Amino acid sequence: MILVTGGAGFIGANFVLDWISLVGEPVVNLDKLTYAGNLETLSVLSGDPRHIFVRGDICDRGLVESLLEEHRPRAIVHFAAESHVDRSIHGPADFIRTNIDGTFALLEAARLYWSNLAAEHKAAFRFLHVSTDEVYGSLRPGDPAFTEAHPFEPNSPYSASKAASDHLVRAWYHTYGLPVLTTNCSNNYGPYHFPEKLIPLMITNALAGKPLPVYGDGMQIRDWLYVKDHCSAIRRVLEAGRLGETYNVGGWNEKPNIEIVHTICSLLDEIKSDLAGSYRRLVTHVTDRPGHDRRYAIDARKLERELGWKPAETFETGIRKTVQWYLANPQWVANVQSGAYREWISKNYEERQ
Ligand code: NAD
Ligand code: TYD
Repeated sequence: MILVTGGAGFIGANFVLDWISLVGEPVVNLDKLTYAGNLETLSVLSGDPRHIFVRGDICDRGLVESLLEEHRPRAIVHFAAESHVDRSIHGPADFIRTNIDGTFALLEAARLYWSNLAAEHKAAFRFLHVSTDEVYGSLRPGDPAFTEAHPFEPNSPYSASKAASDHLVRAWYHTYGLPVLTTNCSNNYGPYHFPEKLIPLMITNALAGKPLPVYGDGMQIRDWLYVKDHCSAIRRVLEAGRLGETYNVGGWNEKPNIEIVHTICSLLDEIKSDLAGSYRRLVTHVTDRPGHDRRYAIDARKLERELGWKPAETFETGIRKTVQWYLANPQWVANVQSGAYREWISKNYEERQ
């Protein structure tokens, strides 16, 4: 079996669902269930003996050690993190704790477990760390996309904490020989995405007739990948990645934010037209994010060349599926828009002009 951390969050839950249905190998899923973790996403697995959910904190090394001893996984896939840049600006402490201290605790527990494995299991064991392209910093127009050799230049508390965790993972390979792999992926989108991030926020706000808050001029560029393509890349790296290597994951889909918002409006106009007129009428430019990275772009050719991975979705097919998923799942959206969600929305948006 494998141990997944953060498997009740957006990408982790998509990974667990796909893993159980495509690979079928049992998963121990360790998740603290912060505001971003949601067991409802995993409800189709209830009663399935291949999914063992444990509510707990990756910073709790004793807990992780006992889970490893009890379940004896052949790999750890580490998603658990605080992941939202705006939240990291309002309150960086949780990011330092989970992303840095938590990864450190996990590495130490993994090292203890791995060092006591029999030679054959020791050689087969993997620690896969899921990271982000944001560790590389921001690109200027015309700069080539980030390769794995790009220096780390993180600019937000979120990206700085992820960069620190990437460095720890690297050091545990070089110093202790722990068999690690790291993936650095671009922005994901798709089903079960918490509606604090750009794409699900715009879809859910539009459907509720609320303003669509575009930060600054909306010309910041992100490189978008459908979440299930990220999950297939992680499976591939876990299977065949070279130890100690980092692999960029992306789909060559650079888009300015305003174009994303317009695309969502056009899809909604087509699928669920509003008598009041195009959803574009709701677009509202608001005060920019402090230190806002202008452009991310991922060069994923190493993953393609070495491991033969390619995304299955284009942006056009993926965004259509995503909009359709939100239209088909209003109850999931309503359930995650709890009191705590409403508090965050007022904190982040009410003070913006
Ligand atoms: P998310 O915020 O949706 O989910 C994070 C999950 O981790 C939640 O279920 C939460 O309960 C859990 N968690 C948080 N702190 C924990 C702790 N201390 N102990 C145990 N569980 C804890 O995040 P996501 O978007 O699914 O991202 C998953 C990973 O992928 C993160 O490491 C993130 O940095 C990385 N990543 C995300 C993106 C993206 O676009 N979302 C892109 C590239 C990489
Ligand atoms: P986000 O989804 O938070 O991901 P990240 O900051 O990790 O890239 O934001 C994506 C882009 O969308 C980013 O440039 C910020 C912008 N954005 C808005 O313009 N308005 C919003 O309400 C949000 C949440 C993000």
